[in-house]
Amino acid sequence: MKIQRIQQETKNQKSKIKFVFDPWSINDVYLPLVSEKSRYLHLYGGAGSGKSVFAAQKLIIRTLTEKGHRFLLLRKVARTIRGSQFALLKSLISYTNMGVYFSARESDMRITCTLNGNEIVTSGLDDREKLKSIFGITSVWIEEATELDINDFTQVDLRLRGKTPNYKQIILTYNPVNALHWLNTTHKPDSYTVRTTYADNKFIDEEYKKMLESLKFQNAEYYDVYVLGKWGIQRNIVYQPFEIIDCCPGYENFDDVIYGLDFGFNNQTALIEIGLKDKEYYLNELIYESRLTNSALIEKMQKLGIESSKYIYCDSSEAGRIEELRNAGFNAKAAKKNVKDGIDFVKSCKIYSKPGNKQVNKEVLMYAYKEDGNGKIFDEPVKENDHALDAIRYALYTHRNKTPYIGLIWI
Ligand SMILES: Nc1ncnc2c1ncn2[C@@H]1O[C@H](COP(=O)(O)OP(=O)(O)OP(=O)(O)O)[C@@H](O)[C@H]1O
Ligand SMILES: [Mg+2]
Repeated sequence: MKIQRIQQETKNQKSKIKFVFDPWSINDVYLPLVSEKSRYLHLYGGAGSGKSVFAAQKLIIRTLTEKGHRFLLLRKVARTIRGSQFALLKSLISYTNMGVYFSARESDMRITCTLNGNEIVTSGLDDREKLKSIFGITSVWIEEATELDINDFTQVDLRLRGKTPNYKQIILTYNPVNALHWLNTTHKPDSYTVRTTYADNKFIDEEYKKMLESLKFQNAEYYDVYVLGKWGIQRNIVYQPFEIIDCCPGYENFDDVIYGLDFGFNNQTALIEIGLKDKEYYLNELIYESRLTNSALIEKMQKLGIESSKYIYCDSSEAGRIEELRNAGFNAKAAKKNVKDGIDFVKSCKIYSKPGNKQVNKEVLMYAYKEDGNGKIFDEPVKENDHALDAIRYALYTHRNKTPYIGLIWI
Protein backbone atom coordinates (compact mmCIF):
# COMPACT_ATOMS: atom_id res chain seq x y z
CA MET A 1 0.00 0.00 0.00
CA LYS A 2 1.40 3.31 -0.96
CA ILE A 3 -0.01 6.34 0.72
CA GLN A 4 0.81 9.84 -0.38
CA ARG A 5 0.73 12.65 2.09
CA ILE A 6 -0.59 15.88 0.66
CA GLN A 7 -0.37 19.24 2.38
CA GLN A 8 -3.71 20.81 1.70
CA GLU A 9 -4.43 24.47 2.11
CA THR A 10 -7.71 25.11 3.84
CA LYS A 11 -9.76 28.30 3.78
CA ASN A 12 -7.96 29.54 6.89
CA GLN A 13 -4.62 28.83 5.27
CA LYS A 14 -3.99 26.06 7.81
CA SER A 15 -2.32 23.01 6.41
CA LYS A 16 -4.11 19.71 6.68
CA ILE A 17 -3.03 16.20 5.88
CA LYS A 18 -4.90 14.23 3.26
CA PHE A 19 -4.08 10.64 2.41
CA VAL A 20 -4.31 9.32 -1.09
CA PHE A 21 -4.31 5.57 -1.40
CA ASP A 22 -2.70 3.95 -4.34
CA PRO A 23 -5.36 1.49 -5.56
CA TRP A 24 -2.70 -0.62 -7.26
CA SER A 25 -1.40 -1.59 -3.89
CA ILE A 26 -4.64 -3.34 -3.01
CA ASN A 27 -5.67 -6.50 -4.83
CA ASP A 28 -8.61 -5.81 -7.18
CA VAL A 29 -10.94 -8.25 -5.47
CA TYR A 30 -10.62 -6.33 -2.19
CA LEU A 31 -10.74 -2.81 -3.56
CA PRO A 32 -14.55 -2.41 -3.28
CA LEU A 33 -14.33 -3.64 0.30
CA VAL A 34 -12.38 -0.58 1.45
CA SER A 35 -15.76 1.16 1.78
CA GLU A 36 -17.86 -1.92 2.59
CA LYS A 37 -19.72 -1.17 5.80
CA SER A 38 -21.57 -4.41 6.66
CA ARG A 39 -21.31 -5.36 10.30
CA TYR A 40 -19.74 -8.73 9.44
CA LEU A 41 -17.15 -8.85 6.69
CA HIS A 42 -16.12 -12.43 5.96
CA LEU A 43 -12.88 -12.83 4.01
CA TYR A 44 -12.35 -16.53 3.53
CA GLY A 45 -10.70 -18.80 1.02
CA GLY A 46 -7.47 -20.45 0.02
CA ALA A 47 -4.04 -19.86 1.46
CA GLY A 48 -2.07 -16.84 0.31
CA SER A 49 -5.07 -15.07 -1.19
CA GLY A 50 -4.25 -11.78 0.50
CA LYS A 51 -6.99 -11.88 3.15
CA SER A 52 -4.84 -10.93 6.11
CA VAL A 53 -2.94 -8.24 4.24
CA PHE A 54 -6.18 -6.65 3.10
CA ALA A 55 -7.69 -6.76 6.59
CA ALA A 56 -4.56 -4.98 7.85
CA GLN A 57 -4.73 -2.46 5.00
CA LYS A 58 -8.36 -1.68 5.74
CA LEU A 59 -7.58 -1.18 9.41
CA ILE A 60 -4.76 1.22 8.63
CA ILE A 61 -6.85 3.17 6.16
CA ARG A 62 -9.65 3.53 8.68
CA THR A 63 -7.21 4.42 11.44
CA LEU A 64 -5.74 7.23 9.36
CA THR A 65 -8.94 8.60 7.88
CA GLU A 66 -11.58 8.19 10.57
CA LYS A 67 -11.72 9.42 14.13
CA GLY A 68 -12.67 8.02 17.51
CA HIS A 69 -11.48 4.48 16.90
CA ARG A 70 -10.36 1.69 19.12
CA PHE A 71 -9.84 -1.33 16.88
CA LEU A 72 -9.41 -4.74 18.38
CA LEU A 73 -7.12 -7.40 16.92
CA LEU A 74 -8.43 -10.70 18.15
CA ARG A 75 -7.52 -14.36 18.00
CA LYS A 76 -8.45 -17.36 20.04
CA VAL A 77 -5.05 -17.44 21.72
CA ALA A 78 -3.59 -14.05 22.68
CA ARG A 79 0.08 -14.90 22.27
CA THR A 80 -0.42 -15.92 18.62
CA ILE A 81 -1.33 -12.31 17.77
CA ARG A 82 2.24 -11.07 18.15
CA GLY A 83 3.56 -13.10 15.21
CA SER A 84 0.51 -12.60 13.02
CA GLN A 85 -1.77 -9.54 13.13
CA PHE A 86 0.54 -7.32 15.21
CA ALA A 87 3.61 -8.19 13.11
CA LEU A 88 1.67 -7.69 9.87
CA LEU A 89 0.38 -4.26 10.88
CA LYS A 90 3.82 -3.13 11.95
CA SER A 91 5.43 -4.28 8.72
CA LEU A 92 2.70 -2.66 6.65
CA ILE A 93 3.22 0.61 8.51
CA SER A 94 6.94 0.51 7.92
CA TYR A 95 6.59 -0.68 4.30
CA THR A 96 4.38 2.29 3.52
CA ASN A 97 6.70 4.70 5.34
CA MET A 98 3.95 5.57 7.76
CA GLY A 99 6.08 5.03 10.82
CA VAL A 100 5.89 8.72 11.73
CA TYR A 101 2.13 8.51 12.14
CA PHE A 102 2.08 5.49 14.42
CA SER A 103 3.68 4.33 17.61
CA ALA A 104 3.68 0.68 18.57
CA ARG A 105 3.98 -0.52 22.16
CA GLU A 106 5.40 -4.03 22.29
CA SER A 107 4.50 -4.86 25.89
CA ASP A 108 0.74 -5.02 25.34
CA MET A 109 0.81 -4.96 21.53
CA ARG A 110 -0.89 -1.61 21.15
CA ILE A 111 -0.59 0.67 18.13
CA THR A 112 -1.53 4.33 18.42
CA CYS A 113 -2.03 6.74 15.53
CA THR A 114 -0.18 9.89 16.53
CA LEU A 115 -2.28 12.07 14.19
CA ASN A 116 -5.64 11.45 15.78
CA GLY A 117 -5.21 9.26 18.84
CA ASN A 118 -6.93 6.23 17.28
CA GLU A 119 -5.83 2.99 18.86
CA ILE A 120 -5.40 -0.60 17.78
CA VAL A 121 -5.45 -2.94 20.77
CA THR A 122 -5.15 -6.71 21.02
CA SER A 123 -6.70 -9.52 22.99
CA GLY A 124 -7.18 -13.25 22.85
CA LEU A 125 -10.23 -15.17 23.94
CA ASP A 126 -8.04 -17.13 26.32
CA ASP A 127 -7.52 -13.90 28.25
CA ARG A 128 -11.13 -13.15 29.16
CA GLU A 129 -10.18 -10.73 31.92
CA LYS A 130 -8.21 -8.58 29.50
CA LEU A 131 -10.97 -8.79 26.95
CA LYS A 132 -13.49 -7.65 29.55
CA SER A 133 -11.27 -4.75 30.53
CA ILE A 134 -11.09 -3.38 26.99
CA PHE A 135 -13.88 -0.88 26.51
CA GLY A 136 -15.12 1.27 23.66
CA ILE A 137 -14.23 -1.10 20.84
CA THR A 138 -15.28 0.38 17.50
CA SER A 139 -14.36 -2.46 15.11
CA VAL A 140 -12.68 -5.86 15.29
CA TRP A 141 -10.45 -8.01 13.10
CA ILE A 142 -10.62 -11.71 13.98
CA GLU A 143 -7.75 -13.63 12.37
CA GLU A 144 -8.13 -17.41 11.80
CA ALA A 145 -11.75 -17.07 12.87
CA THR A 146 -12.36 -20.84 12.60
CA GLU A 147 -10.43 -21.16 15.87
CA LEU A 148 -13.39 -19.56 17.64
CA ASP A 149 -16.48 -21.43 18.66
CA ILE A 150 -19.81 -19.70 18.32
CA ASN A 151 -19.91 -18.70 21.99
CA ASP A 152 -16.55 -16.98 21.64
CA PHE A 153 -17.87 -15.09 18.67
CA THR A 154 -21.07 -14.06 20.42
CA GLN A 155 -19.02 -12.68 23.27
CA VAL A 156 -17.08 -10.48 20.86
CA ASP A 157 -20.18 -9.48 18.94
CA LEU A 158 -21.86 -8.34 22.16
CA ARG A 159 -18.93 -6.06 22.96
CA LEU A 160 -19.28 -4.09 19.75
CA ARG A 161 -22.09 -1.75 20.78
CA GLY A 162 -23.00 1.82 21.53
CA LYS A 163 -22.85 4.97 19.50
CA THR A 164 -19.64 5.36 17.54
CA PRO A 165 -18.68 8.11 15.05
CA ASN A 166 -18.12 5.54 12.26
CA TYR A 167 -19.55 2.19 11.22
CA LYS A 168 -18.79 -0.80 13.41
CA GLN A 169 -17.45 -3.85 11.65
CA ILE A 170 -16.10 -7.28 12.50
CA ILE A 171 -13.70 -8.54 9.83
CA LEU A 172 -13.26 -12.29 9.94
CA THR A 173 -10.38 -13.88 8.03
CA TYR A 174 -10.15 -17.65 7.71
CA ASN A 175 -9.61 -20.75 5.62
CA PRO A 176 -12.77 -22.79 5.04
CA VAL A 177 -11.55 -25.85 6.90
CA ASN A 178 -14.78 -27.66 7.59
CA ALA A 179 -18.18 -27.19 6.00
CA LEU A 180 -19.81 -28.04 9.32
CA HIS A 181 -18.17 -25.11 11.03
CA TRP A 182 -20.57 -22.55 12.49
CA LEU A 183 -19.02 -19.91 10.24
CA ASN A 184 -20.52 -21.77 7.32
CA THR A 185 -23.72 -22.97 8.90
CA THR A 186 -24.73 -19.79 10.75
CA HIS A 187 -25.72 -16.85 8.59
CA LYS A 188 -26.21 -13.50 10.21
CA PRO A 189 -27.96 -10.57 8.56
CA ASP A 190 -25.78 -7.61 7.62
CA SER A 191 -22.97 -9.92 6.49
CA TYR A 192 -20.83 -9.54 3.41
CA THR A 193 -18.76 -12.49 2.30
CA VAL A 194 -15.93 -12.70 -0.20
CA ARG A 195 -14.17 -15.91 -1.16
CA THR A 196 -10.70 -15.63 -2.64
CA THR A 197 -7.84 -17.86 -3.74
CA TYR A 198 -4.17 -17.27 -4.44
CA ALA A 199 -5.20 -16.42 -8.02
CA ASP A 200 -6.76 -13.23 -6.63
CA ASN A 201 -3.45 -12.15 -5.15
CA LYS A 202 -1.23 -10.50 -7.74
CA PHE A 203 1.58 -10.20 -5.20
CA ILE A 204 2.03 -13.92 -4.56
CA ASP A 205 5.32 -15.44 -5.69
CA GLU A 206 5.70 -18.24 -8.23
CA GLU A 207 7.34 -20.61 -5.80
CA TYR A 208 4.40 -20.41 -3.39
CA LYS A 209 1.96 -20.93 -6.27
CA LYS A 210 3.83 -24.09 -7.27
CA MET A 211 3.80 -25.37 -3.71
CA LEU A 212 0.05 -24.83 -3.50
CA GLU A 213 -0.61 -26.50 -6.83
CA SER A 214 1.45 -29.54 -5.80
CA LEU A 215 -1.10 -30.19 -3.05
CA LYS A 216 -3.40 -31.47 -5.79
CA PHE A 217 -1.39 -34.68 -5.91
CA GLN A 218 -0.71 -34.93 -2.20
CA ASN A 219 -3.99 -34.33 -0.46
CA ALA A 220 -7.24 -33.71 -2.29
CA GLU A 221 -9.02 -32.32 0.77
CA TYR A 222 -6.24 -29.85 1.53
CA TYR A 223 -6.24 -28.88 -2.11
CA ASP A 224 -9.94 -28.04 -1.99
CA VAL A 225 -9.60 -25.96 1.13
CA TYR A 226 -6.22 -24.27 0.79
CA VAL A 227 -5.95 -23.92 -2.98
CA LEU A 228 -9.50 -23.73 -4.28
CA GLY A 229 -10.77 -22.05 -1.13
CA LYS A 230 -13.78 -24.36 -0.95
CA TRP A 231 -15.40 -25.41 2.27
CA GLY A 232 -13.93 -28.74 3.32
CA ILE A 233 -16.51 -31.31 2.23
CA GLN A 234 -16.70 -33.08 5.50
CA ARG A 235 -20.37 -33.82 5.83
CA ASN A 236 -19.25 -37.29 6.84
CA ILE A 237 -16.75 -35.97 9.34
CA VAL A 238 -16.48 -38.12 12.47
CA TYR A 239 -15.72 -35.58 15.20
CA GLN A 240 -16.45 -31.91 15.64
CA PRO A 241 -13.12 -30.09 16.04
CA PHE A 242 -11.92 -30.18 19.64
CA GLU A 243 -12.06 -26.85 21.39
CA ILE A 244 -8.61 -25.27 21.32
CA ILE A 245 -7.40 -23.67 24.53
CA ASP A 246 -3.98 -22.38 25.43
CA CYS A 247 -3.87 -23.13 29.12
CA CYS A 248 -5.01 -26.27 30.88
CA PRO A 249 -5.02 -27.27 34.55
CA GLY A 250 -1.47 -28.68 34.30
CA TYR A 251 -0.12 -32.16 34.97
CA GLU A 252 -0.07 -31.79 38.76
CA ASN A 253 -3.64 -30.55 38.92
CA PHE A 254 -5.31 -33.27 36.90
CA ASP A 255 -7.52 -35.82 38.67
CA ASP A 256 -5.76 -38.44 36.59
CA VAL A 257 -3.50 -38.74 33.55
CA ILE A 258 -3.78 -41.54 30.99
CA TYR A 259 -2.15 -42.24 27.62
CA GLY A 260 -3.31 -43.56 24.28
CA LEU A 261 -0.83 -45.24 21.97
CA ASP A 262 -1.32 -46.22 18.36
CA PHE A 263 1.56 -48.25 17.00
CA GLY A 264 2.89 -47.70 13.53
CA PHE A 265 6.06 -48.10 11.59
CA ASN A 266 5.43 -47.08 8.01
CA ASN A 267 2.51 -45.15 9.43
CA GLN A 268 2.93 -42.83 12.37
CA THR A 269 3.19 -44.00 15.94
CA ALA A 270 1.06 -41.65 18.00
CA LEU A 271 1.29 -41.22 21.76
CA ILE A 272 -1.19 -38.82 23.31
CA GLU A 273 -1.28 -37.79 26.96
CA ILE A 274 -4.74 -37.08 28.29
CA GLY A 275 -5.31 -35.17 31.50
CA LEU A 276 -8.67 -35.69 33.23
CA LYS A 277 -10.21 -32.92 35.27
CA ASP A 278 -13.83 -32.71 36.39
CA LYS A 279 -14.84 -35.24 33.74
CA GLU A 280 -13.23 -33.17 30.98
CA TYR A 281 -10.22 -34.20 28.93
CA TYR A 282 -7.12 -32.24 27.95
CA LEU A 283 -4.96 -33.53 25.11
CA ASN A 284 -1.20 -33.28 24.89
CA GLU A 285 0.43 -34.70 21.76
CA LEU A 286 3.72 -36.33 22.81
CA ILE A 287 4.85 -38.48 19.90
CA TYR A 288 3.73 -38.52 16.27
CA GLU A 289 6.41 -40.12 14.17
CA SER A 290 6.84 -42.75 11.48
CA ARG A 291 9.61 -45.37 11.27
CA LEU A 292 9.86 -45.60 15.01
CA THR A 293 11.06 -49.01 16.25
CA ASN A 294 9.73 -50.24 19.57
CA SER A 295 13.08 -49.72 21.28
CA ALA A 296 13.27 -46.13 19.97
CA LEU A 297 9.71 -45.61 21.17
CA ILE A 298 10.55 -46.95 24.63
CA GLU A 299 13.57 -44.67 24.82
CA LYS A 300 11.44 -41.66 23.93
CA MET A 301 8.83 -42.60 26.50
CA GLN A 302 11.51 -42.94 29.16
CA LYS A 303 12.86 -39.51 28.26
CA LEU A 304 9.34 -38.10 28.52
CA GLY A 305 9.26 -39.42 32.08
CA ILE A 306 5.99 -41.30 31.77
CA GLU A 307 5.20 -42.67 35.19
CA SER A 308 4.98 -46.44 35.64
CA SER A 309 1.62 -46.15 37.44
CA LYS A 310 -0.15 -44.43 34.55
CA TYR A 311 -2.31 -46.42 32.19
CA ILE A 312 -1.14 -46.52 28.59
CA TYR A 313 -3.89 -47.89 26.37
CA CYS A 314 -2.32 -49.41 23.29
CA ASP A 315 -3.39 -50.80 19.97
CA SER A 316 -4.30 -54.36 21.04
CA SER A 317 -3.34 -55.87 17.69
CA GLU A 318 0.34 -55.55 18.68
CA ALA A 319 0.53 -57.78 21.75
CA GLY A 320 4.30 -58.23 21.36
CA ARG A 321 4.98 -54.52 21.46
CA ILE A 322 2.70 -54.09 24.48
CA GLU A 323 4.64 -56.83 26.25
CA GLU A 324 7.92 -55.05 25.52
CA LEU A 325 6.54 -51.83 26.97
CA ARG A 326 5.48 -53.71 30.10
CA ASN A 327 8.94 -55.26 30.38
CA ALA A 328 10.37 -51.75 30.19
CA GLY A 329 8.29 -50.82 33.23
CA PHE A 330 5.31 -49.09 31.63
CA ASN A 331 1.72 -49.83 32.61
CA ALA A 332 0.75 -50.70 29.04
CA LYS A 333 -2.70 -52.23 28.49
CA ALA A 334 -4.42 -53.59 25.43
CA ALA A 335 -7.13 -51.14 24.46
CA LYS A 336 -10.73 -52.06 23.75
CA LYS A 337 -10.98 -51.43 20.05
CA ASN A 338 -14.69 -51.44 19.32
CA VAL A 339 -14.59 -48.68 16.73
CA LYS A 340 -18.24 -47.65 16.63
CA ASP A 341 -18.81 -47.61 20.39
CA GLY A 342 -15.41 -46.03 20.89
CA ILE A 343 -16.21 -43.20 18.52
CA ASP A 344 -19.62 -42.67 20.08
CA PHE A 345 -18.00 -42.46 23.48
CA VAL A 346 -15.35 -39.96 22.33
CA LYS A 347 -18.12 -37.86 20.79
CA SER A 348 -19.85 -37.72 24.17
CA CYS A 349 -16.72 -36.36 25.92
CA LYS A 350 -15.74 -32.73 26.42
CA ILE A 351 -12.25 -32.66 24.97
CA TYR A 352 -9.83 -29.75 24.82
CA SER A 353 -6.86 -29.55 22.52
CA LYS A 354 -4.15 -26.89 22.38
CA PRO A 355 -2.42 -25.07 19.51
CA GLY A 356 0.74 -27.19 19.87
CA ASN A 357 -1.18 -30.43 19.14
CA LYS A 358 -0.56 -30.01 15.44
CA GLN A 359 -1.40 -33.51 14.27
CA VAL A 360 -4.40 -33.99 16.53
CA ASN A 361 -5.86 -30.70 15.34
CA LYS A 362 -5.18 -31.62 11.73
CA GLU A 363 -6.55 -35.16 11.92
CA VAL A 364 -9.78 -34.11 13.58
CA LEU A 365 -10.65 -31.93 10.60
CA MET A 366 -10.01 -34.72 8.09
CA TYR A 367 -11.17 -37.89 9.82
CA ALA A 368 -14.28 -38.98 7.96
CA TYR A 369 -16.73 -41.84 7.59
CA LYS A 370 -16.50 -43.99 4.47
CA GLU A 371 -18.69 -43.02 1.58
CA ASP A 372 -19.48 -44.90 -1.61
CA GLY A 373 -19.66 -43.40 -5.07
CA ASN A 374 -23.39 -42.68 -4.65
CA GLY A 375 -22.89 -40.60 -1.55
CA LYS A 376 -23.99 -43.35 0.85
CA ILE A 377 -22.17 -42.93 4.14
CA PHE A 378 -21.12 -45.94 6.21
CA ASP A 379 -20.72 -46.29 9.96
CA GLU A 380 -17.06 -47.01 9.54
CA PRO A 381 -14.35 -44.33 9.26
CA VAL A 382 -11.77 -44.17 6.47
CA LYS A 383 -8.51 -45.58 7.81
CA GLU A 384 -6.54 -42.40 7.14
CA ASN A 385 -5.73 -39.36 9.24
CA ASP A 386 -6.50 -41.44 12.28
CA HIS A 387 -3.32 -42.24 14.24
CA ALA A 388 -3.63 -39.61 16.95
CA LEU A 389 -7.41 -39.99 17.00
CA ASP A 390 -7.17 -43.76 17.41
CA ALA A 391 -4.78 -43.26 20.31
CA ILE A 392 -7.26 -40.87 21.92
CA ARG A 393 -10.15 -43.27 21.36
CA TYR A 394 -8.24 -46.23 22.81
CA ALA A 395 -7.51 -44.30 25.97
CA LEU A 396 -10.87 -42.64 26.54
CA TYR A 397 -13.03 -45.62 25.63
CA THR A 398 -11.03 -48.24 27.52
CA HIS A 399 -10.73 -46.02 30.58
CA ARG A 400 -14.37 -44.90 30.48
CA ASN A 401 -15.70 -46.69 33.54
CA LYS A 402 -12.80 -45.92 35.81
CA THR A 403 -12.66 -43.27 38.42
CA PRO A 404 -9.21 -42.86 39.98
CA TYR A 405 -10.43 -44.97 42.92
CA ILE A 406 -11.76 -47.87 40.87
CA GLY A 407 -8.59 -47.64 38.80
CA LEU A 408 -6.58 -48.82 41.78
CA ILE A 409 -8.27 -52.20 41.80
CA TRP A 410 -8.68 -52.58 38.07
CA ILE A 411 -6.49 -55.10 36.32
N1 LIG B 1 -1.56 -5.84 -1.13
C1 LIG B 1 -0.43 -6.53 -1.05
N2 LIG B 1 0.76 -5.93 -1.29
C2 LIG B 1 1.90 -6.64 -1.24
N3 LIG B 1 1.97 -7.96 -0.96
C3 LIG B 1 0.82 -8.60 -0.71
C4 LIG B 1 -0.44 -7.93 -0.74
N4 LIG B 1 -1.40 -8.82 -0.45
C5 LIG B 1 -0.77 -10.00 -0.23
N5 LIG B 1 0.55 -9.87 -0.40
C6 LIG B 1 1.57 -10.95 -0.31
O1 LIG B 1 0.89 -12.19 -0.36
C7 LIG B 1 1.17 -12.96 0.80
C8 LIG B 1 -0.06 -13.71 1.23
O2 LIG B 1 -1.03 -12.80 1.67
P1 LIG B 1 -1.85 -13.04 3.02
O3 LIG B 1 -0.97 -13.47 4.11
O4 LIG B 1 -2.70 -11.84 3.24
O5 LIG B 1 -2.75 -14.27 2.55
P2 LIG B 1 -3.92 -14.99 3.35
O6 LIG B 1 -5.06 -15.06 2.41
O7 LIG B 1 -4.15 -14.31 4.65
O8 LIG B 1 -3.30 -16.43 3.55
P3 LIG B 1 -3.65 -17.56 4.65
O9 LIG B 1 -4.96 -18.14 4.26
O10 LIG B 1 -2.54 -18.52 4.47
O11 LIG B 1 -3.66 -16.88 5.97
C9 LIG B 1 1.67 -11.96 1.82
O12 LIG B 1 2.56 -12.56 2.72
C10 LIG B 1 2.33 -10.92 0.99
O13 LIG B 1 3.65 -11.32 0.68
MG1 LIG C 1 -3.93 -15.04 6.60
